[in-house]
Amino acid sequence: MQKKLDELMKLRAEARLGGGQERIDRQHAQGKMTARERLDLLLDEGSFEEFDMFKSHRCQQFGMADKQFPGDGVVTGYGTIDGRLVYVFSQDFTVLGGSLSETFSEKICKIMDLAINNGAPVIGLNDSGGARIQEGIESLAGYTDIFLRNVKASGVVPQISAIFGPCAGGAVYSPALTDFAVMVKNNSYMFLTGPKVVKSVTHEDVTVEQLGGAMMHATKSGVADYAAESGSDAIHYVQELLSYLPQNNVENPPYVPTSDKPERRDEFLNQIIPDNPNAAYDMKQVILRTVDNARFLEVKEFFAPNIIIGFARYNGSSVGIVANQPCYLSGVLDIDSSIKAARFVRFCDCFNIPIVTFVDVPGFLPGTNQEYNGVIRNGAKILYAFAEATVPKVTVITRKAYGGAYCVMSSKHLRGDVNYAWPTAEIAVMGAKGAVEVLYGREAKSAKNPEAFLAQRELEYAETVANPYVAAKRGYVDDIIEPARTRFRIIKALGMLKNKRDTNPMKKHGNIPL
Ligand code: HXC
Repeated sequence: MQKKLDELMKLRAEARLGGGQERIDRQHAQGKMTARERLDLLLDEGSFEEFDMFKSHRCQQFGMADKQFPGDGVVTGYGTIDGRLVYVFSQDFTVLGGSLSETFSEKICKIMDLAINNGAPVIGLNDSGGARIQEGIESLAGYTDIFLRNVKASGVVPQISAIFGPCAGGAVYSPALTDFAVMVKNNSYMFLTGPKVVKSVTHEDVTVEQLGGAMMHATKSGVADYAAESGSDAIHYVQELLSYLPQNNVENPPYVPTSDKPERRDEFLNQIIPDNPNAAYDMKQVILRTVDNARFLEVKEFFAPNIIIGFARYNGSSVGIVANQPCYLSGVLDIDSSIKAARFVRFCDCFNIPIVTFVDVPGFLPGTNQEYNGVIRNGAKILYAFAEATVPKVTVITRKAYGGAYCVMSSKHLRGDVNYAWPTAEIAVMGAKGAVEVLYGREAKSAKNPEAFLAQRELEYAETVANPYVAAKRGYVDDIIEPARTRFRIIKALGMLKNKRDTNPMKKHGNIPL
C-alpha cells in the first residue's frame, strides 16, 4: 500500500510542477504568478478540490506523443471564497504556453457543467497562447464547446474572467461572453489578431500594449471591466466583486451587516449642486456619501466615464448603481455610456440585484459621429434594459433630467418603483436656454434688447417648467426629498421593495436592439 501511496504522491508532485521548474522561473521573472499560485490567492486556504489532475492530451502528431504533462495545462476544480462555493479553472502558461487542446477544453467544460447544475459562479483565470497549434480542429472544437457553455450559463450563474497573460484569437470570446473581465496592466493582452498580422493586412504599426493591453480595453473598447495594477490586485477585485453577487439567478445577494446607520444624514449633499446650472460636480461624491461606509466597487471606471456603474450596499444589501457623471461631458448619454449602463442593468436584473439610479443628464449627445454610429440603435439599449428590468428600481434625480434622457434613466414610465427628486431637479423637454431659442427666437429678433428679452423668457421657462414640481404634481416623482436625507430615503424604499415580484410577458427571449 505504501508503495502505491508514494507513487500517487510522486505523480501529484509532478502534475503540480506543470511545465517544470525552469518555465515556472521564467514566469516569475516576468512578474507573473503561476496558475496554482493564482488559485492559492483566490480561494480560501485549504478549500481547493482539484479535478482531472492526471488528464493528458491525446495528440500524436508533431512529436506530441512524447510531450506529456499531467493535467494538460489547465488546473480545474472547486473551492470557496469567503466560505462560498465557486468553480475555477486556471490556465498554466508553463505547459505548452497554456494552449488549449481537446482535453484541456474537456476539463473546463466539466467545471462549467457542474457550476450550471449546482448554481455557483465560474471563475476563469486566463493565460494562454490560444488554440494548441499541434491539434488544430480538435482545439477549435474545444473552444466552441466552452463558448456554448458560456452562453448557457449566462444569466444562470455569475461568470468572471481574469486575464493574466496572452489571450489571443478566438480565445478572446470566452472572456467576452462572461459577465466581467479583469485584466492586468502591462502583463495581459487580448486581441483577435496580433501586431504582425495587423501590419501585414492594414500596414499599421502597433505594439501589443496599444493593440490589446489592459488600459486600451479599459478605456477604449470597454472589453475590460477593471485594469489591475498586478496579478494579486486582479484577484482581490474578483473577490470583492463576488461579495456583492448571489450564487445564481434564484438566490438573493448576500447580506453584509454594517455599522453605518441607515438614518445617517450628510449635510454636504445639501450644498453639492452648484448655483450655476452649467457647472459640474462629482456624482461619485453623491454615491460615496450615501452608501454603506463609503464603499463603492466601480466597474468600467475609465470607459465612457460620463456614466458611472458599480456595486455598493445600502444597510447591508447589495445594489447596482447607475449614475450620470456631470464631471465628464456634462453627464451626457452617448453610444458608449448607453451600452455600458445597459449591460450592467441587465446583469443586475439577471441576478436579483436592485438598481439605484442617480440622474443628472442634459440629454443624448448630438452630432454626425453619434448618428452615423447608431446612437438611435445603441441608445435604445439603455432604455430597453431599464424597461425590461423587474428588480427593485429606485431613482433619484439630483439636477437635470431632460428630454429622452429623462425617459430612459429608470423613469417612472419604465417601471421605476420609487422615483425621488432633489429640490434642485429640472425635469423638462430640454434646457431653458434651448427651449426659449426655439419658442421665442423670431420674437427676440424684433425685441429692443434681444438678449434681455431671451434672458427674461429663460427665467420664466425655468420657473414654470424646469423644476421637480411639475413632475411631482403628476406623480412621476413620488416625493421631493432633502439631499442630506438621501441615504435614509433610499434605504426605506429598498426595504419597502424587498419582496417585490414583477414579471414580463411570456416569451422565448426579447430582441434587444444590438
Ligand atoms: C502550442 C504553444 C502555443 C500554441 C505557445 N506555445 N503558444 N504551443 N500552441 N498556440 C508554446 C511555445 O512553443 C513554447 O513552448 C511555450 O508555449 C512558450 O511560448 P513562447 O513563444 O516561448 O512564449 P512568449 O515568448 O512569452 O510568447 C507567447 C506567445 C507566443 C505570444 C503567446 O507563444 C505566440 O505567439 N504563440 C502563438 C499564438 C497563436 O497564434 N495562437 C493561435 C491563435 S488562433 P516551449 O516548449 O518552448 O516552452 C486561435 C484560434 C482559436 O487561438 C479559435 C477559437 C474559435
